[in-house]
Amino acid sequence: MFRDVASTALPRSVLVVGSGGREHALVRALLASPAQPRVLCAPGNAGIALDTACAPVAADDVPGLVALAQREKIEFVVVGPEVPLSLGLADRLQEAGIPVYGPKADGARLEASKIFTKQILLKHRIPTAPAAFFSEVAPALAYLRTRSIPIVVKADGLAAGKGVIVAQSLPEAEAAVRDMLDGGKFGSAGRQLLVEDCLFGEETSILVVVSGRDYVILPTSQDHKRIGDGDTGPNTGGMGTYSPAEVVTPALLARIENEIVRPSVNAIADEGIAFCGTLFIGIMLTPAGPSVIEYNTRFGDPETQVVLPRLATDLLALLWAAACGRLAGFPLAVKPDYAVCVVIAARGYPDAYPKGDVITFPAAQALPPGTFVYHAGTARNAAGQIVTNGGRVLGATALAPTLQAAAANAYATCEAIECTSKYFRRDIGARQLNRR
Ligand code: AMP
Ligand code: GLY
Repeated sequence: MFRDVASTALPRSVLVVGSGGREHALVRALLASPAQPRVLCAPGNAGIALDTACAPVAADDVPGLVALAQREKIEFVVVGPEVPLSLGLADRLQEAGIPVYGPKADGARLEASKIFTKQILLKHRIPTAPAAFFSEVAPALAYLRTRSIPIVVKADGLAAGKGVIVAQSLPEAEAAVRDMLDGGKFGSAGRQLLVEDCLFGEETSILVVVSGRDYVILPTSQDHKRIGDGDTGPNTGGMGTYSPAEVVTPALLARIENEIVRPSVNAIADEGIAFCGTLFIGIMLTPAGPSVIEYNTRFGDPETQVVLPRLATDLLALLWAAACGRLAGFPLAVKPDYAVCVVIAARGYPDAYPKGDVITFPAAQALPPGTFVYHAGTARNAAGQIVTNGGRVLGATALAPTLQAAAANAYATCEAIECTSKYFRRDIGARQLNRR
C-alpha cells in the first residue's frame, strides 16, 4: 500500500491505536485538522473518550484492530505504540488495503532488537557507542573486564523501557548480565544482550517523519527519564519534556542531520526496509559529537505532547503525505512558542503503584490559556468518576511564548489537579532555564 495510495484527498476517517498521553496528543492534533476527519481511538482512555469515540480493542490485538478498521470504514490508521508495530499491525493493515502511518514489522525491528540496530549503525558508520553481543554468560563477563566503568548492559528485545542498565561498578554489570542470560529477567527480550560503552553528555530526542528516503525533522525536545528531581532514581518511560531543546543549536541540528538523520534514513532504505512512520532517534550529545543511543520506530511519549502543539502544520496532511510517498519537500511550519509537559504519575511508579484513585480536575476556564491536560493511565470507575489506571497518569502541558511561562503554567495545572497518589518531578525544563 505504501506508495500505492492513489487518492490525494485527505482521509475522512482516522483510527489512532494506543491509550497513552502520546495518543491523546495525536487525537487532539488530528481533530484540529482543517479536513475535520472522524477520529476513532482504540482502546483510548478516559480523557481521549471526552474528545472522541473510543473502541474497546486492545493495542496489541492485531486481528481485532484490522477488523475494527474494516468495520468502521477507516481510511487511515495512525499507530502509537511499538508493540503492535512489531507484531505486524502495519503489514496486516496494508494487506487489507488500509493505509497506515507506522512501519511494518521489518522496520519496527529497529526498536524491537537493539542488536539488529547496532549492527546497522556500525555497518553504515553512523556515530554510536562501541558494543559487543552475547547470548552466553562467560564471554560476556570476560568482555566486561576489558572495558571501563560505567558500562551499559542492554537486553536485546522490547522490555518496556526497563531493559537498559547503566552499571556503575563491575559487580553491578556482572549481575545484570547474569540476571538477563541466566535469571530470565526480561524473559525472551533478555536472552541476548549488548554490552555497550557508556556515553556521556546531554540526551535529546529527534523525531523524524520518514517515508522511504524522504524525511521531515520535527521540532527538537528533551525528555527527563529518571523518576526523581535532578535526574536521580530509576529510569521511567519519561517524566516530562520540553521543546525546543535549545542545546541543539541550528548548527548542531545541521550536524545531526548530516551525520545521523540522513545516513540513518538511507541505511534503513539500503537494508531493504520500506519505512513509513516516525523514526525517533535518541541521541547523546557527547563532547566528541552527537552519537546514537537508540532508534524507536514510533512517536515518543511524552515527546509528542510537546512537539505536536508546536506544529503550525496540519498533522493529518503530514502523516498522510508520508503514507502516500509524497513527503519530499513537505513544508513544515513551527510555532515560535515553547512547550512543557509535566507527567503526573502514581506515587510508586516505576515500581508498584496504586490504581483507582479518584482524580479531580480544575475547570477548563481555571487553567491558564494554552494549557491542556493529556490523559495517559486514566479510566472511569463504576460510579463514573475518572480514576488512575496506570503508572503515568496525566501530562500537564502548556504552550507559551517563553519556557518560563510554559513551565509555570504546566506546574500550576499540576497543583490544581487533585489526586491522593499524584507524584511529579519539580524540575522539568529547569536545566534549560538554568543554562541561560
Ligand atoms: P533505551 O532503553 O535504549 O532508551 O535506554 C534508556 C536510557 O539508558 C537512555 O535514555 C540513556 O539515558 C541510557 N543509555 C542507553 N545507552 C547508553 C549509553 N551507551 N551510554 C549512556 N547511557 C545510555
Ligand atoms: N520518552 C521516551 C520514549 O518514548 O521512548
